[in-house]
Amino acid sequence: MIVCSCNVLSDQQVKACMNGGAGGPRTPAQVYRCLGCAPRCGRCATTIRKIMNASFAEASADAVEGCTETCGAACLHHAKVA
Ligand code: FES
Repeated sequence: MIVCSCNVLSDQQVKACMNGGAGGPRTPAQVYRCLGCAPRCGRCATTIRKIMNASFAEASADAVEGCTETCGAACLHHAKVA
């Protein structure tokens, strides 16, 4: 599905951009840059932010599922597991 008609960006392209790990985009502006373009009208920024938030939530849930007893206090997700 096209989420940015100005730059013809799909939701799949945005999701793929988010799989860059810790150095991946943290803002919609960084997503545009990651995909080699820039915002024009800006109407898609809210949709891109929603895709980003879903990706962050999914990554966080995966991290919590991967926690073990040995994570201990050093783990950012420890409080959610304990
Ligand atoms: S719809 Fe994305 S910048 Fe216009």
